[in-house]
Amino acid sequence: MISETLQLLDTEEGRHNPYPLYDRLREHPPVYDERHQAILIVRYADCAQALSGFGRPDEAWVKRRIPDWESHPAVVCLMRTMQFGDPESHPRRRGVVSRFFTKRRITSHIAAESATVDTLVDDLVAEIAAHGEADIQNVLSYRLPSISIARLLGLPEHEIAGLRPHSLALANLLEPQLSQPDLAAADQSLRELEVYFEQVIEARRRHPGDDLASHLVQVHEAGTLSWHELTSMFASIFVAGTMNTSNFIGNGVAALLSSPPVVAQLRAQPSLIQAAMTEMLRYDAPMQVTRRITVAATELGGTRLPAGAELAIVLGSANRDPAVYTEPDRFVPGRSGPPPLSFGGGSYFCIGAAMAREEGALIFSKLLSRLPELRAARTPTHNLRSVLRGYLHLPVTADVSLVGAGT
Ligand code: HEM
Repeated sequence: MISETLQLLDTEEGRHNPYPLYDRLREHPPVYDERHQAILIVRYADCAQALSGFGRPDEAWVKRRIPDWESHPAVVCLMRTMQFGDPESHPRRRGVVSRFFTKRRITSHIAAESATVDTLVDDLVAEIAAHGEADIQNVLSYRLPSISIARLLGLPEHEIAGLRPHSLALANLLEPQLSQPDLAAADQSLRELEVYFEQVIEARRRHPGDDLASHLVQVHEAGTLSWHELTSMFASIFVAGTMNTSNFIGNGVAALLSSPPVVAQLRAQPSLIQAAMTEMLRYDAPMQVTRRITVAATELGGTRLPAGAELAIVLGSANRDPAVYTEPDRFVPGRSGPPPLSFGGGSYFCIGAAMAREEGALIFSKLLSRLPELRAARTPTHNLRSVLRGYLHLPVTADVSLVGAGT
């Protein structure tokens, strides 16, 4: 029964809608899954406990999965990011970035984005007017976070759209199983991105600005961040910031399209947008799984785990746990219950969470106010990923004669 459920999770249907399968898993104690090579943690309370107290995957972990990992530049880069690798260096690596992400900086960064969102919504409307429909993933969901990350990192904006295939290739590194072609594609993307980032870093060294790139270059020159850590930091923020936020926007739009009464409610009370975003993040988490390793023998979900046990924390399942959310499969902004675990937790809590939420507030508010008749045009195409879950294509349409002007 359990093994059948685990197998189903790896089918097209299971990847498309894993939630009924998570329901079945939550009825059992934590179970080992071959595909993730880890014990699946699926209940809210167990996930919350594991997120805050346990360690992150280290080099021993990656060696078990990819024995020749050191000959793969993409994996080497992953292991130099703040999320992975040597746990001792996490506070230093994270501190370097979190010092830059002040509330004031995020607020002014997002304020500058309002006009960009209007332009992207204009593009969406123009596409619908010309073709009767538009793919919101292409026109908006990826472009806004990528422009935003470009500005943050100090990358030329016109170059960033062409980098999407690299984000997609590198995002595969987080999937439970990695084929040789996927690994080769990730390596190739990393090589190309590194060449590109090195040029940006060199430009910022000569002409510093008020961007994250200039900040990181200064920190590197002061000796706090090695050269390899610097380029890995670029790649990690670029991929985490673009892929997760674009899936958040796409998954959120899909939830709204399937709930016209919620859309009507949000139009009547725009102040509900924050609660609606919390619910979007809960209902279909953009990052379904994160990883932990037990640092000492411990008990979790009634099961005794040895030190060094590899855990896959299924955030998407925690967010649908009926033990903490009433009727968890319904999309109900403003519902009661604990905060969803979509941004993780503990000392690894997502560093871009505030920025992603601010960006979401801007985009959902503008979509709701400017496109009163937004609706699905055709069946969307899902990316069928187990970790960075989202849509490849999400075709929408609207009555363009009712479109409101930007502000
Ligand atoms: C809605 C959008 C986003 C979602 C759902 C999301 C989700 C997550 C999750 C689940 C984690 C892992 C936390 C853990 O294991 O405890 C994480 C970590 C991280 N995220 Fe995000 N993220 C989003 C947006 C962003 C953005 C915009 C950035 C950068 C600007 C970013 C940068 C990072 C970084 C650097 C980490 C590693 C933090 C650490 O290891 O200390 N994320 N994110």
